[in-house]
Amino acid sequence: MRNRFLECQAFADVHVHLREPGFTSKETILTGTRAAARGGYTIVCPMPNLNPVPDTLETLAIEQEAIRRDAVVRVLPYCSITMGRKGLELVDFAALKGHCCAFSDDGSGVQSEAVMLSAMKEAARLGVIIAAHCEDNSLPGTDPRSEWGQIERDLELCRQTGCHYHVCHISSKESVRLIRDAKARGINVTCETAPHYLTLCKDDVLDEGRFKMNPPIRTAEDRDALIEGLADGTIDVIATDHAPHTAEEKSRGFAGSAMGIVGLETSFPVLYTKLVRTGLISLDRLIEAMSAAPRRIFNLPATPDDRVVIDLETPFTIDSTTFASMGHSTPFDGWEVYGKVLKTELDGNTIYDINKQ
Ligand code: DOR
Ligand code: ZN
Ligand code: ZN
Repeated sequence: MRNRFLECQAFADVHVHLREPGFTSKETILTGTRAAARGGYTIVCPMPNLNPVPDTLETLAIEQEAIRRDAVVRVLPYCSITMGRKGLELVDFAALKGHCCAFSDDGSGVQSEAVMLSAMKEAARLGVIIAAHCEDNSLPGTDPRSEWGQIERDLELCRQTGCHYHVCHISSKESVRLIRDAKARGINVTCETAPHYLTLCKDDVLDEGRFKMNPPIRTAEDRDALIEGLADGTIDVIATDHAPHTAEEKSRGFAGSAMGIVGLETSFPVLYTKLVRTGLISLDRLIEAMSAAPRRIFNLPATPDDRVVIDLETPFTIDSTTFASMGHSTPFDGWEVYGKVLKTELDGNTIYDINKQ
């Protein structure tokens, strides 16, 4: 017999897009963190593809001000690796250290090996994390080599420099194998994948914008290798890559759609239903990858009074119209799932209660 209710430490999402400053028609700090609370998260780390890009203390201060004003969960931003996320000139890592959770140019890969090498040298010297969106622009994103080729390049740079290298949203079986082998050789690498790569494959993809994201959904073999990688610890963390866009931007069919889907309000139920209830992953492993592992790997604050209460036994249907996020585009719309978040507490204070909505 399973217990009906699960209570555990709240989740932490090290890869979200909250769109403020710069893109508040897609999402804001307020709506994005409300979505986080509804999903059982009390810490989120927003990526720096913003306007302005947080690449100096001055530009970061604009994002921090919105966070101080509006956030309902803890928000620890990323700074970019390169100025303006242009892939050319490094940010001042020393000045930004201590003001961000890690450094990433998410949204694009760092194309130049020389630039990545100097970023990793700086990261190693200062003890900060490089979180890489791996995508080789000279190949189509649908070719998995676009992802794993860059991972292979970076793992060698990571070996040379010893920096902490974290790979964002891995989606292919080759990436799992490369990272598993690198870990076995003692390389300082961690990685994440997202719920959609663990639960969907090409056969599920419809000609609709809600299936369009970068990297794309790949084959059943890739999905199964990711599940295996999660089970054996090759994949450390599950992050959502919550990437809201406006309804119009997601309405142009698969080919014309903006890249990105929302994820904060569906991650636990989707994964619990598809991976835990089916026996593929243990409940403890899932919670570890959504809560303890991201906190440990990103040195996030220990927050023992951040809690989530979940109903594991009452089925419900995912209805994207009820989301707190301004983004409503999800491949999971209409899925019947288990694992509804009932309550989220931050420092012992209730920030979401399903009965008080
Ligand atoms: O699907 C994606 N959406 N992939 C990215 O790399 C960027 C993100 C976004 O910002 O919308
Ligand atoms: Zn990315
Ligand atoms: Zn992202």
